Amino acid sequence: MLFPGTFLGVWNLLQISGRESIASISPAWLQAHGHAQVFGWVGSFILGIGFYSIPKLHDGAKTSFVAAWMCWTMWTVGAASRWAANVYLWHWRTLLPLSAALELAAFLIFFRAVSGHRTEGSREKRFAAWIWVVISASVGLLFVLVTNLAGCIYVSIRGTTPAFPHVFDQRFLILMAWGFLVPFVLGFSAKWMSVFLGLRPMRTNWLLSAVVINLVGIVFAVCGYISIGSLLFVAGAGLAVAALRMFEPAVNEPKTRGIHSSFPFFIRMAYLWLLAAAGLGVAASRWDTSGGIWGASRHALTVGFVSVMILSVGQRILPAFAGMRALWSTRLMSLALVLLTFGCTLRVSAEVLAYQNYANWAWKLLPPSALLELTALTLFAVNMLGTFVLQPAHAIKEPMVTRIAESTH
Ligand code: HEM
Repeated sequence: MLFPGTFLGVWNLLQISGRESIASISPAWLQAHGHAQVFGWVGSFILGIGFYSIPKLHDGAKTSFVAAWMCWTMWTVGAASRWAANVYLWHWRTLLPLSAALELAAFLIFFRAVSGHRTEGSREKRFAAWIWVVISASVGLLFVLVTNLAGCIYVSIRGTTPAFPHVFDQRFLILMAWGFLVPFVLGFSAKWMSVFLGLRPMRTNWLLSAVVINLVGIVFAVCGYISIGSLLFVAGAGLAVAALRMFEPAVNEPKTRGIHSSFPFFIRMAYLWLLAAAGLGVAASRWDTSGGIWGASRHALTVGFVSVMILSVGQRILPAFAGMRALWSTRLMSLALVLLTFGCTLRVSAEVLAYQNYANWAWKLLPPSALLELTALTLFAVNMLGTFVLQPAHAIKEPMVTRIAESTH
């Protein structure tokens, strides 16, 4: 699911830098890229981790497996048909609402399965702070999917192309980024990061306050008060970082056995990107005249924060989740992370300079930035494939298995 969106993103960026303008690029193609990345790639990753955390699946309960496969099929068909509708315009008036309805239905199956498991848990688990944060992210995703369905129905009846109208799309993107992606990563960070990085226990009340501030920011931004909303995103992100103690010295050894030792560095790097994305959002609400500062803020968040996090945490947990395997190559892991960070830095800085007409030479930096990011994501996929295909199952020793299982459930 990673490749269709990434290739289209690279293609779009090559076209934009070739023409030195974003205006002549089809909004339907830009949105097809964003949708494929966020729903097709990140969304599938999150649904997969969510299903994995249901103990019943480990016990082999048939109903949970059926639900997981139904969810996966509907989600994948939904994301793929959105792609076909936006890129090939193939029966788009029918496919657009159908794809959105499939994604919503898939999510409802997921939500039912996961919430059933939660209520079976102990009282203590039910009220753990990280679960509240993940619930808020799930409700955010539900809102995103309902809004997406409404937008698709509207466009299929009234639109002349499958693209959402610009203002609607901008607010939809804010809801998606700050209402779904950010709280999901914060929730899973709250669960895992103090163990993985050896940090002191998080400040729970600060984290919950950060989530509330973020929610208020979304309400302001979606209602059109974008400057106030983006200031609140900065406050929420800053408070969340402080709550997780992300930049405080570790008190225990980080858990890097079997992965590259740069893991803690890149997790912290992802959080720096979160702060940069929030800061760029404030700058965009004041000075953006071209979509360039908004684009930079969006990619600081989606590539810098979310993708760096997936490349780090994914390579930490997926090999164990998929049959207790060891990661195929720790070198490939660090190379992918270095290239992604480098590509993202180039992209975010050059996008502001080029799109805003601050520096004409910056247009030339955009194609290499896209290729660096593409290479990084390809290396990640290759490393995962090598892990699943070439590494033997059940190779991880018992203590690590227990630790990972404990930190998941
Ligand atoms: C190889 C890496 C990538 C490249 C080259 C790329 C390129 C682009 C380009 C050219 C745009 C058009 C707007 C702009 O110029 O800023 C865009 C928009 C967008 N991208 Fe990316 N992108 C990449 C990775 C990602 C990832 C990993 C995600 C999400 C996880 C993502 C999410 C989005 C979203 C949500 C939009 C907005 C779409 C809309 O206007 O509705 N991108 N990207």
